Amino acid sequence: MLESLQKNAEKALSELQNVTDTTSLKEWRSQNLGKESVIMQTLGNLGGLPTSERPVIGRQANNIRQNLETAFQKRIDQLRDSASETLPTASLDVTLPGRPVQHGRLHIVTQTMRRIYAIWADMGFQIYRSPDVETDEYNFELLNIPKHHPARDMWDTFHTDTPGIILRTHTSPGQIHAMREYCPNPIRVILPGMCYRYEQITARSEIQFNQVEGLAIGQNIRFTDLKGTLSDFARRMFSANTATRFRASHFPFTEPSAEMDVECFLCSGGGCSVCKHTGWLEILGCGMVHPTVLENGGYNPREFTGFAFGMGPERITMLKYGIKDIRYFWGNDLRFLEQF
Ligand code: PHE
Repeated sequence: MLESLQKNAEKALSELQNVTDTTSLKEWRSQNLGKESVIMQTLGNLGGLPTSERPVIGRQANNIRQNLETAFQKRIDQLRDSASETLPTASLDVTLPGRPVQHGRLHIVTQTMRRIYAIWADMGFQIYRSPDVETDEYNFELLNIPKHHPARDMWDTFHTDTPGIILRTHTSPGQIHAMREYCPNPIRVILPGMCYRYEQITARSEIQFNQVEGLAIGQNIRFTDLKGTLSDFARRMFSANTATRFRASHFPFTEPSAEMDVECFLCSGGGCSVCKHTGWLEILGCGMVHPTVLENGGYNPREFTGFAFGMGPERITMLKYGIKDIRYFWGNDLRFLEQF
């Protein structure tokens, strides 16, 4: 019995010298030192041997087990050493720089919008989110645009199958949401988000685009506040000496209403193709909140006044970077997007 144990061990030891990787090393261990191995079985069954043989065989078997264990440990160290020796010359060159991870980027319109948010945040305006899917009541009615009013022609609308549920055509319905939530407290918010219009898609019009609406409500807010605040915005957005002008306009939810132009930053007012040789670029619509709208929001128009405005970040981006076609923004063409 002892002889066969010895033979077995010798065979195992010589096999160990041929083991060169961790998988076969593990296999070797389970085969020669695992529960089912000859040596472990022998040690486990010592109790079944005649008392006279027990100590001799037990001692020998233990020696053999220890020899195998030591050889195994030694082989691990050997393999580890030789692996680190061969590393620098092996085909894997660990000194090579890694493959660069491709960084994504923010969409250029997102960048413009974040710049707009930061400017308004500096002036104390919070962001107020309101839904893209609206009711006819919020999108039109409460903004002083009754059914069949010709002013509705200004907004081509997407209707859903549910009567009265539409995609918002502008961010102005958010004014009512904000007023109803904050009334009777003063308000300073901007309301950014996607708007939708059922329009022919051309270089200048898309069926979806962003707007950033603004709303300030309080006591003694006057048209001069609107002019001063929006002119300040233009200087922060474009450059410190940007001139602005206000032209009378019409929106049913503001009175009086205006459109604000900034001096063309491409030709500094001299006249170029982008400003159509006028020297001015139109960037937003604005006005004093109409008394009826204040009332719909829960405010007493004899006590409160306010101003509102709405601008199109895509349009501002197009002007700023000389982008000729609004369709590039949602075309997902990397050649376009990677420029910013
Ligand atoms: N909602 C208007 C539009 O979509 C813009 C606007 C907002 C005008 C707020 C005045 C006040 O054209």
